Amino acid sequence: MQTQDINAVLSSIETAHGLPNGMYINETMAQKEREHVFHKNWTALTCGKNVPHAGCVMPIDMLGIPMLVTRNKNGEIKVFENVCRHRGMILVNEAKRLNGPITCPYHAWAYDMDGHLRATPHVGGADIHDHEAVDKACLSLNEIRSHVWMDVIFVNIDGKAAAFDDMHSDIIDRWAEFNRPIYHSGSDSSFSLTLNSNWKLAIENYCESYHLPFVHPGLNSYSRLEDHYNIEGPGHFSGQGSYVYNPSLDETGRTFPTFDNISNKWDTAAEYLALYPNVLLGVHRDHVFNIIITPDAINQTTEQIEIYYADQSALDDSYSVMRQKNSAMWKEIFVEDIDVVEGMYKGRSAPQYDGGKFSPIMDGPTHYFHQWVAKQMAA
Ligand code: FES
Ligand SMILES: [Fe+2]
Repeated sequence: MQTQDINAVLSSIETAHGLPNGMYINETMAQKEREHVFHKNWTALTCGKNVPHAGCVMPIDMLGIPMLVTRNKNGEIKVFENVCRHRGMILVNEAKRLNGPITCPYHAWAYDMDGHLRATPHVGGADIHDHEAVDKACLSLNEIRSHVWMDVIFVNIDGKAAAFDDMHSDIIDRWAEFNRPIYHSGSDSSFSLTLNSNWKLAIENYCESYHLPFVHPGLNSYSRLEDHYNIEGPGHFSGQGSYVYNPSLDETGRTFPTFDNISNKWDTAAEYLALYPNVLLGVHRDHVFNIIITPDAINQTTEQIEIYYADQSALDDSYSVMRQKNSAMWKEIFVEDIDVVEGMYKGRSAPQYDGGKFSPIMDGPTHYFHQWVAKQMAA
């Protein structure tokens, strides 16, 4: 980004412009963004519920890097490069639960869930399984720094970011009441959407409630624009809150069980925050969700949505219909957003578009995100 573009974004909201077109459509800038935004921060990768048991392994490619998520016998999650230290073969091709080690399909070098190299068959010749030049202790899988919060597995690819708890202490404190076990019911609480758009536009759209009456008329009929408030950090997040969370998913008035001892504030409040760079979060007294935003390409983005309940009893069959309705309600809202997120992307190819003009009242959370991105690019 040019200095004048950075300054235009960092200016006060009354005079600021948004990020320039190039930040959405220029491949060179996307490469730079990969390094400055995704490698240096805590990037959301996937969810802990996808490796539920000891011995579970899950390959996942993010930003072109093949990664492998494992869970060891102590329940700890680790992330490694999904690459054998011998000749660089991809180790695991599909998510599965292993009884033994992670064995490379090429020459059968084997690693445990902590990435330690345990076996090197025939490395010293037929039936000789060691060689003095091959020191197993120095050939563990290359680990990628990771941290789990609210079941989201985050990775810091360059390994140099401040500790997750330090970098994100503001949001952790804000949502301390939700930092406890949450329960996922499986396929009825999970769906994904693919958008022909740049990933940042999905984040920006989620940050604000300004579009609610126009894009979500159904939602706006009970959670109106005026029922929302803006949240702009402090910290690496922004979004909106609502004062009127009161879902009706069952004709008899039955509701999901809530978190134990949750404070009154959450009787009717809900908050929706984008935690930068790439995860959208929502919290309510009875359920939370996360949406991991993956930039598949400069013009293609995947949103993976996972819904979790506050109490294990919400996973009972008796709640099955309500859970499906809850998922369907969220899906309808996120599908309603696709048109505008894709439309804004097309708009970024208009050469005279200057990053736009913010409403000083309504666009604060979006401007906060733009400022954060501009600061990363300037760093
Ligand atoms: S590449 Fe993995 S054992 Fe040879
Ligand atoms: Fe929306």
